[in-house]
Amino acid sequence: MSAPLIDPFQRAITYLRVSVTDRCDFRCVYCMSENMTFLPKKELLTLEELDRMCSTFVRMGVRKLRITGGEPLVRKGIMTFFQSMTRHLDSGALDELTLTTNGSQLEKYATDLYAAGVRRVNISLDTLDEARFAEVTRWGRLPQVLRGIDAAQAAGLRVKINTVALKGFNEDELFTLTEWCASRDMDLTFIEVMPMGDIGNESRIGQYWSLQDLRDQLRQRYTLTDLPERSGGPARYVRLEESGQKLGFITPLTHNFCESCNRVRLTCTGELYMCLGQEDMRDLRSPLRMSESDQPLEEAIRRAIAGKPKGHDFDYSRQQEGGKMSRHMSHTGG
Ligand code: GTP
Ligand code: 5AD
Ligand code: SF4
Repeated sequence: MSAPLIDPFQRAITYLRVSVTDRCDFRCVYCMSENMTFLPKKELLTLEELDRMCSTFVRMGVRKLRITGGEPLVRKGIMTFFQSMTRHLDSGALDELTLTTNGSQLEKYATDLYAAGVRRVNISLDTLDEARFAEVTRWGRLPQVLRGIDAAQAAGLRVKINTVALKGFNEDELFTLTEWCASRDMDLTFIEVMPMGDIGNESRIGQYWSLQDLRDQLRQRYTLTDLPERSGGPARYVRLEESGQKLGFITPLTHNFCESCNRVRLTCTGELYMCLGQEDMRDLRSPLRMSESDQPLEEAIRRAIAGKPKGHDFDYSRQQEGGKMSRHMSHTGG
């Protein structure tokens, strides 16, 4: 194994998020515009290249791989990639192989994912109302996702639901969603909507709902106990005493968690983003393709990590001035 990856602020980089495609079968209003232009297929890293990239990071000390997209399960042949990553779990080099998905393909793939060594999945779900679901995803079908969630649980996968908090959209479902997750023994994380991508402003969905307010509403009904643990991610957790379930809050705007950041993100074209909230990235595809040896790639990764910034740059006041991130979440994998 090579020397571990340590950034200039003494943070060890042990978590790689990998977007395997920019495509998705949904068009969530806060994530994509209706008429997205996707990358030509030839721009994407091949599955073999993705394997080489991930394996190099694992050799350099990455212990957790999260596969994202777009929707990772719409990438053709993706199960082959998961199966090839199993060897890093088997060798003990990797602690966790996991994914973030919209759930639409889980009915088909849940069993194969479990067989490949995946034990947890994060599934995005903003509403339990069919009409609203179709509205927020632009054309997604809720029953398909619910069947995916059933299949995941039946296969033995632990499920965490991710819900983006949207004022005037799912505010009135706060308790319904919380109790539905509790009844199915699923954890739930609320995410503050982030100013990403050119998503237009014609939609009535997508107004910023502060998680401070959401949490206050929960406290009026339930007893919440703060949990000290951090999963190496940006979420802060509480336990809801009435049900025992874990609730997470991801609040990049009102609460900065950058000081403990352990992650970097690889896009489907082989760019490495050192921070979700910064435009700065390094190309890893050229050093990968330059040689059959992994040495140029390793060197490029070290140089990139040496430039990891201290923290993100999200700011709603800048957004109002037109200063929001132009990049889509599906590009960097959320
Ligand atoms: P676990 O902690 O392993 O459950 O994963 P996670 O919550 O990091 O992963 P998930 O893909 O479910 O992330 C949920 C959302 O959190 C992402 O889609 C982003 O919206 C947000 N997020 C994740 N990582 C970061 C980060 O480093 N910075 C910021 N600002 N937001 C992040
Ligand atoms: N703000 C917050 N969360 C977002 N996601 C996608 N776009 C945004 C955004 N602009 C979330 C999805 C999913 C995860 C992959 O990222 O809902 O849970
Ligand atoms: Fe697709 Fe997820 Fe983006 Fe929705 S949030 S459009 S499901 S990538």
